[in-house]
Amino acid sequence: MPATTPAPTPGATITPDQDHARAPTHGAGTGTGPNTGLDAGTTAGATTGPNTRQGIGTATGTVAGADTEPGAGTTAATTTGLNTQPGAGTSARTTTGPGSELGIGATTGAAIGTNTASNTPTTTGATTGPDNGPRTGRDTGTGTTTGQGTETDQAPIGVAIIGAGERGVYYVGSRMAELAAETGFRIVSVHDRLPERARLAAAHLDALYAGAGVGHTVGVAPDLTAAVTDPAVQMVLVTTHTNAHLEPVRAAVRAGKRVYLDKPISVSLADARAIVAAEAEGGAPIMMGFTRRYERPWIDAIALSRTGATGTPRMVLLRSVIPYTRYLQLWHRTNAASGGAINDKGSHHFDVLNWVAGPGARAVSVTAMGGRSSIFAPDPDAPARCSECDRACPYRRHETLIDVAEGVGRVPNDSWLDATDPADRNDNCVYLPGSDIDDHAVVTVQYDSGLVACLFFTIFGPYAEDQETLEIIGESGRLRMERHSGEIDLVSGHGAERRVIPAGADNRDSSHFGADLELVRTMRRFIAGEAPPAGVRDGLASLELVEAARRSMAANGRAVDPRNQEFL
Ligand SMILES: NC(=O)c1ccc[n+]([C@@H]2O[C@H](COP(=O)([O-])OP(=O)(O)OC[C@H]3O[C@@H](n4cnc5c(N)ncnc54)[C@H](O)[C@@H]3O)[C@@H](O)[C@H]2O)c1
Repeated sequence: MPATTPAPTPGATITPDQDHARAPTHGAGTGTGPNTGLDAGTTAGATTGPNTRQGIGTATGTVAGADTEPGAGTTAATTTGLNTQPGAGTSARTTTGPGSELGIGATTGAAIGTNTASNTPTTTGATTGPDNGPRTGRDTGTGTTTGQGTETDQAPIGVAIIGAGERGVYYVGSRMAELAAETGFRIVSVHDRLPERARLAAAHLDALYAGAGVGHTVGVAPDLTAAVTDPAVQMVLVTTHTNAHLEPVRAAVRAGKRVYLDKPISVSLADARAIVAAEAEGGAPIMMGFTRRYERPWIDAIALSRTGATGTPRMVLLRSVIPYTRYLQLWHRTNAASGGAINDKGSHHFDVLNWVAGPGARAVSVTAMGGRSSIFAPDPDAPARCSECDRACPYRRHETLIDVAEGVGRVPNDSWLDATDPADRNDNCVYLPGSDIDDHAVVTVQYDSGLVACLFFTIFGPYAEDQETLEIIGESGRLRMERHSGEIDLVSGHGAERRVIPAGADNRDSSHFGADLELVRTMRRFIAGEAPPAGVRDGLASLELVEAARRSMAANGRAVDPRNQEFL
């Protein structure tokens, strides 16, 4: 994909072109023969013959022959022949011949021949021939498919939710009800160990179905068995407290139902392994709710790191300095129920590190320092609940439970206010004795691929735009993704080019920056047979890092092998 520059130097290359050009040095040109050049900057041109050139910047071009070029930036390209080109940014392209192109951003294109493209988020295109691409932009895309495809129909899918709390009902269940017409999801019943919570949850969902114009009412299942054995139910959502994941997963699998399990997989490695065994016993994959796997800036950042835009990734920093003192106010306040902040929140982060490392890499060493700071030293004299307290305090329930930017709000269900058990309330005082969870950690993870990763984490960070960032440093550049703005700041070519890629997602004002809508859409394709982005083995791999970090922290930073939890 050949080339203009800010000051174009027209030229023709008849012999192999192996230029390694940065920014304005590579002019417009035509390459006949293999091209293995690296262009950073603005490029326009034509390549006849195999092309493995990497183009970063604005590129327009025509490639005749095999094209394995990763293009980051604005790309318009026509490929005749095999195309395995991942394009990040805005791209418009036509592929004649097999295409396995991965387009991130707005993609318009036509694939003539087999298309296994994963195009996100807005796709306009026509496919002639089998279309097996997971096209996550299907909702906003327009296109025609001629030939056999794997598009899903919208037949009703009956769902039972076990654990009718915030996650199950007020995030995932609510998004399911909102997308009922598009996805066919019908929540048949909710079940909770607190019957009043379940009753109010069902009423909440009924109102959402009515608002979406779908005539459907949600029942309350009296127990787990009744919920999962109902013949009207095809899929079970397990959103109980983290220490209560195993039993409903097992029951659902044994009832022959498809299962969605929220993160973290469990509190103990024994439960996690039992869940992996239950999946094997049932024979169908279980989908896990690592939300960042469905959140556009994370997906784009990691895909971009794989295009070669930064060179091979060598180091990763996940910085999570978040105002999550709510963990001290909710059931998460004990290790027994949640595994602590490093499990509840850290499980997301460790999954991201494993995701960046890739499926072939194994974590081989973990070190960690941190634990519980003195900021939340227990105060036996503090009133137990915020609602009973008139002290001046930066951790008032009504402020700490809401993160507007993340789309997380107060749950319209009074069972949290009426509860007497601290595990069922949401306004426990952060100083209430009895909490034993960690609140900060610095963790390093070494992978057998050579990648080194660091998680820099606390739940007492201030609310700030940059409270959660992912930085990936490669051999020739780095990218830094900021979760709250969704922007990716990319430096390529050893510093020759820097650009900021805006958040390329719709619905960022919906919960988890739109990720829960994407998750529900993905669930629909999961039911139709698509492999989930994350499964229970990913859950186990994440928990292995959590456990190793906890063990290392307790031993003043000694290195632990996460594969067997032994000290190195
Ligand atoms: N993916 C994400 O981003 C995300 C976000 C929030 C929570 N979660 C996860 O979802 C799960 C639930 O968290 P939540 O915030 O919704 O908590 P929650 O307290 O709001 O809801 C959990 C519900 O499960 C019920 N429950 C507990 N044990 C049960 C059992 N054995 N049988 C039936 N009901 C039971 C509780 O009564 C409660 O109503 C946790 O594992 C949590 O880590 C994931």
